[in-house]
Formats: sequence, C-alpha cells, structure tokens
Amino acid sequence: SSNQMWGGRFASGPDAIMEAINASIGFDKRLARQDIEGSRAHAAMLGATGILTDSDVEAIREGLLTVLSEIEAGSFTFRADLEDIHMNVENRLRELIGDAAGRLHTARSRNDQVALDFRLWVRDQLDALEGALTALMSAYVAQAEAGADMVMPGFTHLQTAQPVTWGHHMLAYVEMFARDRSRVRDARARMNESPLGAAALAGTSFPIDRHMTAQALGFDRPSANSLDAVSDRDFALEFLSVASICATHLSRFAEELVIWSSAQFRFVTLSDRFSTGSSIMPQKKNPDAAELVRAKVGRINGALVGLLTVMKGLPLTYSKDMQEDKEQVFDAADSLMLALAAMEGMVRDMTPRAENLRAAAGSGFSTATDLADWLVRTLDMPFREAHHVTGTLVRMAEDRGCDLPDLSLEDMRSVNAGITQGVFEVLGVDNSVASRASYGGTSPAGVRAQVARWKEDLA
Ligand code: ARG
Repeated sequence: SSNQMWGGRFASGPDAIMEAINASIGFDKRLARQDIEGSRAHAAMLGATGILTDSDVEAIREGLLTVLSEIEAGSFTFRADLEDIHMNVENRLRELIGDAAGRLHTARSRNDQVALDFRLWVRDQLDALEGALTALMSAYVAQAEAGADMVMPGFTHLQTAQPVTWGHHMLAYVEMFARDRSRVRDARARMNESPLGAAALAGTSFPIDRHMTAQALGFDRPSANSLDAVSDRDFALEFLSVASICATHLSRFAEELVIWSSAQFRFVTLSDRFSTGSSIMPQKKNPDAAELVRAKVGRINGALVGLLTVMKGLPLTYSKDMQEDKEQVFDAADSLMLALAAMEGMVRDMTPRAENLRAAAGSGFSTATDLADWLVRTLDMPFREAHHVTGTLVRMAEDRGCDLPDLSLEDMRSVNAGITQGVFEVLGVDNSVASRASYGGTSPAGVRAQVARWKEDLA
C-alpha cells in the first residue's frame, strides 16, 4: 500500500528491506514526549497567528494530550511502517481527531521537527548530567573532609613521589568534575536556540511566529538561519565531547580504585554493595563496578567518533544520514549516567585504609624533596647541590635497605658535614604535607579551606 504521508507520488509501497533500513521508530520513540511538546507549541502558534482556526487548534491540543497519555501508559502501538516517532504520533492523532490532524504539519517539516525534538532531548540530558555531576562532587567532598589530614603517597609515573593527603587527592577529582559541569552549562547555553519554523530548509511562506514557539519551549531565541537549523548537530557532538571528557575522568578514578583495592596496595576497601565475588576463588572480592566504569569510556568515545564521522562531509542541509545521530547519543547518555551513579555509590561507600596509606606514604624515600628543601633553607645550599647531596643519601639508604629517617646523623654528616639533628623533623610525612601550604598545595589546612569552598558551592 502506498504511504499516507506522501503516497500521492508513489505507485507502490516500500520493499521490506527498505522499511528495515529506513525505520527509526525502534529508537526514536524515546523522543515521544519532546515530539508532542514541540507539536503543542507549534499548534498554539498556528492558532495565535490565525493560520489555523481555534477549533482545530483545540482538537489538536486535546488529541496530542491523549496520545501522550497512551504513550506514557504503554498502550500506544508503535508501527515500523510509519517509520519514525513523528509519523507515529501524527497518524494516531488522525485516528483520534480526524482531518484537523493533517493541518498540524502546516509550516513545518520533519527536518525542523526532528532537529527540535532531539535538541530538547539533549537539553534535558544536559540538565540531568549537571545534577549527577553535582551529586558525585559532593561524594568526593565528603571523602575529602573526612580525610583532610590522612597522608598517602602521591605518585608520578605510578612511582612514589611525595606524600599528599587523601583529601587533596579527592579534591583533584572535584576540580575535574566541576570543569565537566561547567562544560555542560556552556553547551546548554550555546545549543539553546529553536530550529522550529525552519521548515524543510528554507523557511516558510506562512506568517509564523518563531519567537513565540522558541519562548514556549524554553529557548533563548529562534535560530537565525534555516539551512543551519535543520542541518546542525553540533549540540549532539558537544554533548558527546562533554560526555567523553567526563567519562575519561571517571575512568581515571576507576583505574585508581582497581589498583588501590588490590591485595598489593590495600589503600581502600570497596563496599560489598559495589563488588562481586568469584564462582571458583572463595577469597575474591572484585571491583567490577570500577572496571565497568573504566570501560564505559570506550563506547562513549566511540559514539563521539561515530557521530563526527557521520556528520563529516555531509552537504547542506538535511540528509538521512543524520538519522544515525540518535542511537550514538542515547547509548552514550545511558552509559554515562549509569557510570556516574555507580561511581557516586562507590565513592560514598569506600573506606580509605589510613594505616596502609600512611605506611606507603613514608616508604620509597617520599620525603627526599623535603630533605633537599631543608638543605636549601638551613644551609643556604643551591637547590641543584641539595638535590645531589640528597640523592647520595637516598642511595646510601637504599644500599642498607632502610628509609631516609632510619639513617643516623653520623651517616648524614658523612655526606655533608653541615647537616644537624633538625633535619629529622622534615623527614616525617605529617610535617611534609603540613609544610606544603602554598596555595593549591596538599597541606591539611589548604584542603580544609578548599572543602569549605566546595561545600558552599554545592549547597
Ligand atoms: N526519522 C528522521 C530522522 O531521524 C526524521 C526526519 C526525516 N526527514 C526527512 N526528510 N526524511 O532524522
């Protein structure tokens, strides 16, 4: 049978394969709410501008509400032969209200309609993402507050570098997720223009009011160029780039959790709620949630590259290629929201193992820099020379199988006669972190100040 939307031009209906490759209803049904919201705004505008009669507009309004309630109740039948959400909704509207349904599409095309629906969906998702990021940030801040002066090793190259505080490490992630949140806000502000009324690509000869629909749908303004409006998917690409960067941050902490929860590190205990066991090895408690968060970045980055590749080289304006935008975004959004929720749970529930962290913080000559700084401060030694003296002492300690504070004053003096008993004060990890009071440094006082700043921000 020929299509009821464009059947006039066609002698036969589509091949089954054509229907299979063409239909998007399997996934774009997720745009149902946005589609109906957009249609309601469009119909109200068509009434206000006198393009449709009040009675048609009223019938459309009521009909759309019925369709929405059917979809929400799960009683709506989605049909693949009706291709997409737009035609499924319109078809049902016609069943409900008859001819007036056919007037809804006046001065509109599926090209501006889908651009609108998808934009509304992504905008909602950005708002949800902002909320999830805020919740995750609070979880890290709570950990930072509890462990403001808990010492742990800081690493470079995953080799012991200098002692830091647990609180400082937690707050590093708060900074990352705060930047993600700021990127979410930027993206939202930039995408908040309404494509509705661009029609197929060139605008319309009907006296529509695009400012009215833009305002009704919460947009800052209508988009200024109809060709751009129907062919732009920057908002989806930006969402995916924000998502990829955020997922990258998640994956870095997930990796740290995998390492830290191992029997070799024993820095942190993950809660049973976010761990799994083994079917053969009774002792196992595996950090599966952390591993899956670490992996999710793969498909999220994949979605970004996938959509960039779809959009690359597309001539203006709409091409059906662009129907391939949605699954990438839906999958990335679902993956990211789940990963954020899992990470928030893990961060809230995890227990840092203070004793092990402290022991590790003091090993591996972690206060060698403190010793060198002491030589500079106390003996007025140039830093390069202090570095050399300290290096010699590290080698001595290493040869003896001990740490720096285990060397005697005599040992130290054999390398530099100016060294006095006072040096031992800077070799302890608590002194080390307390001394790093430069702005943004790891000192407990600095961490507490930052915790206070974040608590105010997140309140
Ligand atoms: N299902 C289509 C999509 O997702 C809707 C727009 C179709 N427009 C068209 N001219 N065929 O992109």
